[in-house]
Amino acid sequence: VVELETGLEKRRVLVVYYSRGGNTRHVAERVAKSLNADVDEIKKANEGDKAIFGLDPSVYELVIVGTPVNGFSPSKPVADYLSRNRGKFRKLSTYLTYSLWPAGTLKRMGELASTAPVASAVFKSRDIKLGHIDDGLNSYLESLKNVLVRG
Ligand SMILES: Cc1cc2nc3c(=O)[nH]c(=O)nc-3n(C[C@H](O)[C@H](O)[C@H](O)COP(=O)(O)O)c2cc1C
Repeated sequence: VVELETGLEKRRVLVVYYSRGGNTRHVAERVAKSLNADVDEIKKANEGDKAIFGLDPSVYELVIVGTPVNGFSPSKPVADYLSRNRGKFRKLSTYLTYSLWPAGTLKRMGELASTAPVASAVFKSRDIKLGHIDDGLNSYLESLKNVLVRG
């Protein structure tokens, strides 16, 4: 276990997310804490739907991108982030938070980045609010840790 944790600490993992109401942030913070990851919160530009972000994803081994579902799609700032950083993700993982129906949002995220995600997850807003995401979160974290251990 010690070796595994040491190994993970040496890896460079980035969690990037946009969140309007806090659900997607909640998941981001828990994922980042578990994986010792850097965090970059995307902000929405005042004009239009452009993403403002701080860190270069290309220097990270694994980038985890989270979005709320907005109108059966990724939020506009995350869509902008993924397409502007297309080709810069060495390994990409995607997750979303949604209330009723995520539709093709995960598929769209991979398309925007032109990268097939190594793992993905969905979290329902109601479950987040009720504190009922431990099972889903743990299996997502297991997948991500396996990706990091495999290299
Ligand atoms: C404008 C808007 C559009 C939304 N569209 C959808 C949708 O198409 N499908 C869905 O399941 N949830 C939809 N939702 C619900 C959000 O995806 C959900 O509440 C999410 O967890 C919010 O994340 P946040 O708290 O990080 O902003 C929508 C919410 C808003 C505000």
